[in-house]
Amino acid sequence: MVRLTIDGSEVEVPEGTTILKAAEKAGIRIPTLCYHKRLPPIESCNMCIVEIEGEKEPVNSCAAPVSNGLVVTTDSKALHEQRTANLKKILKHHPLDCPICDRAGECELQDIVYELGIEDVPYEPRKVKRDDTYSTSLIRYWADRCIMCGRCVTACRDIKQIGAIEIQGEEENARIVVDPDKCKSCGECLMVCPTGALTENLSRYKGRPWLVKRVQTTCTYCGCGCQFELNVLDNRVIGVTTDVDTGVNQGSLCVKGRFGYEFIGDESRLKKPLIKENGALREASWEEALDTVAEKFKAIRDQHGPDNIAGLTSAKCTNEENFLFQKFMRAVIGTNNVDHCARL
Ligand code: SF4
Ligand code: SF4
Ligand code: SF4
Ligand code: FES
Repeated sequence: MVRLTIDGSEVEVPEGTTILKAAEKAGIRIPTLCYHKRLPPIESCNMCIVEIEGEKEPVNSCAAPVSNGLVVTTDSKALHEQRTANLKKILKHHPLDCPICDRAGECELQDIVYELGIEDVPYEPRKVKRDDTYSTSLIRYWADRCIMCGRCVTACRDIKQIGAIEIQGEEENARIVVDPDKCKSCGECLMVCPTGALTENLSRYKGRPWLVKRVQTTCTYCGCGCQFELNVLDNRVIGVTTDVDTGVNQGSLCVKGRFGYEFIGDESRLKKPLIKENGALREASWEEALDTVAEKFKAIRDQHGPDNIAGLTSAKCTNEENFLFQKFMRAVIGTNNVDHCARL
């Protein structure tokens, strides 16, 4: 274990811990922007700087490891001025257009600007198009809001192991570029982006974060059991968000879980059984529909044998329902032709 002092408090943490994590353990919050708990240190924002006794320059606490006897200061006039100057550099290319930004209200950049009390911003409009397309139509890239923090690049490479994004160009010409042949539309980049530079297209302008009710649930698309929150407004699902501290997925989802929610309120969703007669579908009661299915199965089994019937069940069912289904196929129909779609 390593012992150090942070803002006058003694802290003991395992070797290899960063100063940021050690401060967190001591209940001391250091401002961050490019740091994300699921990503390795990126060190692009310099918001997390701290002073170390005996060192001339402040260091980035999100990357600097602890060592025995270190005396760290996380808050001072000089640090505040330096953080403010660093943030103003970032804001030089960022419009404060929070009124029309989907992220307003849960934007890490907005929060840190507020926290540091920045009133005047030396904003120089970037010469970039507003209607920037992304590699997937599910996500929109607002190049002029991008602070080049690198979180999306790192998440796509390190969490998803895809590596579809890279930063091209420098200074005001820098922008992220996504390879459409590699991108899986998973939305991991969207999840980690600390600003409104990446927004979801399906939920655009549908509801402010503080107006929606977030209902935690389990994804029904497969057997992984990913956790997410359905964002509900006026009894309609208008989006999906995740929490890195909840569930086996730690905030990650695939394209189905993150964007496949529109079916919930779709008008064409079936509400009653339909039976096809003479090429046309007509509504039926559950009793009639189930009797029809039973008759047809019986006829096939009697005429062609049970192995001419196969059953494929769904990950949208519970384990108990899937168990009953295989029992039904084996004991009632009389075949072992049964499978399940939950193997991803
Ligand atoms: S990204 Fe954040 S700070 Fe920038 S306009 Fe949107 S809400 Fe405001
Ligand atoms: S949507 Fe997924 S695969 Fe595509 S760029 Fe973003 S993180 Fe990478
Ligand atoms: S798109 Fe978002 S996560 Fe990616 S570099 Fe820009 S601000 Fe950072
Ligand atoms: S949070 Fe440490 S450099 Fe950005």
